[in-house]
Amino acid sequence: MSTRPRISARISAISESATLAVDAKAKAMKAAGRPVIGFGAGEPDFPTPGYIVEAAIQAAREPRFHKYTPAGGLPELKQAIADKTRRDSGYAVEASQVLVTNGGKQAVYEVFATLLDPGDEVLVVAPYWTTYPEAIKLAGGVQVDVVADESTGYLASVEQLEAARTERTKVLLFVSPSNPTGAVYSREETEAIGRWAAEHGLWVVTDEIYEHLVYGGAEFTSIATAVPELADRVVILNGVAKTYAMTGWRVGWLIGPSDVVKAATNLQSHATSNVSNVSQMAALAAVSGDLSAVAEMRTAFDRRRQTIVRMLNEIPGVFCPEPKGAFYAYPSVKELIGKELRGRRPGSSGELAELILEEAEVAVVPGEAFGTPGYFRLSYALGDDDLVEGVSRMGKLLSEAR
Ligand SMILES: Cc1ncc(COP(=O)(O)O)c(C=O)c1O
Repeated sequence: MSTRPRISARISAISESATLAVDAKAKAMKAAGRPVIGFGAGEPDFPTPGYIVEAAIQAAREPRFHKYTPAGGLPELKQAIADKTRRDSGYAVEASQVLVTNGGKQAVYEVFATLLDPGDEVLVVAPYWTTYPEAIKLAGGVQVDVVADESTGYLASVEQLEAARTERTKVLLFVSPSNPTGAVYSREETEAIGRWAAEHGLWVVTDEIYEHLVYGGAEFTSIATAVPELADRVVILNGVAKTYAMTGWRVGWLIGPSDVVKAATNLQSHATSNVSNVSQMAALAAVSGDLSAVAEMRTAFDRRRQTIVRMLNEIPGVFCPEPKGAFYAYPSVKELIGKELRGRRPGSSGELAELILEEAEVAVVPGEAFGTPGYFRLSYALGDDDLVEGVSRMGKLLSEAR
């Protein structure tokens, strides 16, 4: 019998998602009839707007969409994405610089597979979205964390980035608005970071999927537009999931220099070929339409954002800086770790999250999932009443901690 491992080392190294672990437990409890309120979801709680669904229905009826189409995306969608990018962030690109992917996630995997050789370092601001480390690792890259905590509203500075830069640094990953913290870099901060990256010849991979979800006085700034000298070394990741409530349709894209896009398209042509044509036509209706649907969602999210931040900060031992974008709050619960609560003494945010799920029937994602234990991520993309009820239950429980 072979003694060789059944699972390859590369794939064995992929961690189980801590987000999914909480989610699975919450779902099991719900199925057993318990009234669990979930703050775990990374998706808008709205349906996809009707005109987008109609475009998909029409596309499904057209025989030409029953066949393979170009691996890199329908030409009309690539053009519409280029037009939309110019409209929304002022960044001028050709359709040939766009690759349409199966959701933003595939764009994340493809960009790191395309840019990284084994040992190349990627600067990643922590807390970070769970998928990035796995994509970087799978590509043979080495992630270097730059930790930004609540004292700066989870924003990293040029000084911190510079301290983490080495001879092996190839890429800076720049995400604003951020999942999981909701942090948004100002124009000035974005320019300073972009100029620093350009000065040192780094590539910048920028995830702009939450570009339209910013609140209060915050403004989204595309680092590609803010620092034009990056043009030859910047790759933008984006998609329709968050802006148009289209998480299930699986359409994203990457935009970059022609050689990168061509190489990534070659990879995709072998891995998955074209994204479902029906979904691509839905995405075409989305990106070529106006932004009224996202404006409505933004109003609802903003209202919930203000409620959740106020309520979280009223809980003793919880501190939550104001998130400026996306739909997540990222409070610190460090003061509660190690305290006695209902006869237990949770030693980590993971254990505390478990206790909250069991005792208050509220699901939150512990900071362990995002590279910073001691925190929770709560998505506020859920109904207003559930939101208030869920945070109240959690607050009541946590105020018993001694
Ligand atoms: C920061 C960020 N980027 C990209 C994605 C990918 O989204 P999708 O693959 O659904 O398009 C997500 C989804 O949660 C995200 O939070």
